[in-house]
Amino acid sequence: MSQRKQTVFDFPKLNHSGSRNPVVIGIGGGKGGIGKTLLSANLGICFSRTGSKVVLVDADLGGANLHTCLGVEQPSVSMSDFVQRRVETIEETITETGFVGLGLISGAQDFLGSANIKYTQKMRVLKKILGMNTDIVIMDLGSGTSFNVLDFFLSCDLGVVVMVPEPTSLENSYRFVKSAFYRLLRHKEKSDVFRKVIEQAMASQNEYDIRSPYDLIRVVNKMDPERGDEYKQLLWQFRPALVINQVRTQEDAELGEAVRAACRKYFGIDLDYIGDLVYDDSVWKAVRKRSALLKDNTSSPISDSLWHVARELAKRMEALEEPGKGKILG
Ligand SMILES: Nc1ncnc2c1ncn2[C@@H]1O[C@H](COP(=O)(O)OP(=O)(O)OP(=O)(O)O)[C@@H](O)[C@H]1O
Ligand SMILES: [Mg+2]
Repeated sequence: MSQRKQTVFDFPKLNHSGSRNPVVIGIGGGKGGIGKTLLSANLGICFSRTGSKVVLVDADLGGANLHTCLGVEQPSVSMSDFVQRRVETIEETITETGFVGLGLISGAQDFLGSANIKYTQKMRVLKKILGMNTDIVIMDLGSGTSFNVLDFFLSCDLGVVVMVPEPTSLENSYRFVKSAFYRLLRHKEKSDVFRKVIEQAMASQNEYDIRSPYDLIRVVNKMDPERGDEYKQLLWQFRPALVINQVRTQEDAELGEAVRAACRKYFGIDLDYIGDLVYDDSVWKAVRKRSALLKDNTSSPISDSLWHVARELAKRMEALEEPGKGKILG
């Protein structure tokens, strides 16, 4: 492995001087074990190395383990302490990671994992996270398409969907992207009549035979053409980023473009394909050693691909007009 140090010269600088809000990035994807935590932790390291203040939030509902990918012990404070009002501010739950400028908020499984968590309580915590005094917040999301996961994903300025080259992951990614879009509409829609149509679309069997956002828009368009246009607008603006992880072959490397094209053709959703992460034994070796992959800051195929994704995200962060609002909190 080459010992060349990573260069950060071509890394775009964030320039949101008018805004006090951090840029919020959410790392999701329908399936478990596909590299969401790997990507979250190492993006955090990349951004902090380029001089940004970053807070990583372990928002995994079931198995909070972001600390392991950073090579630190399970923190003694977590989001629970804020939720249970044992601390006054969310900032008090940020713990050090050993990387300059990179903090960690450990997950609150008792709170987020609870099925009957109150919607208003969740939104209160989300707003506090999104209003933190830092440059970038990265949320490591759990797997699946529960409303909690989708709401966290939709509250981000930039949502990233991680996928691995396997049919199950492909199916889960499509389901995740579709569900996130329906959930977004559900948040935006105030009319009970149309909310019912969206809820129908969210159910696998439905009386309108809606199987894609395109079908939903067609149904809504018939009922109310103006509304149909608004939904179309939201569909065009909904643009999650896509990262393919564990790429081993040329065929795998071509998957990103194929998924982007299929998503556009069948759903009308424009995925923003921002790169691949190669399969590399050093990833699981680092996890076993409880060490951060990018700790040594040397060049390797996996570290180069992580830096590539970080740079692509930095370009999109730069282009954001008003960070910190996400898609459902504005
Ligand atoms: N690019 C890669 N090369 C080799 N192994 C990898 C790679 N990405 C992930 N892995 C392996 O997959 C495991 C799971 O990765 P990770 O914990 O990041 O997934 P996850 O999506 O966060 O899972 P969960 O949904 O369970 O939280 C890692 O511990 C590692 O062993
Ligand atoms: Mg994880």
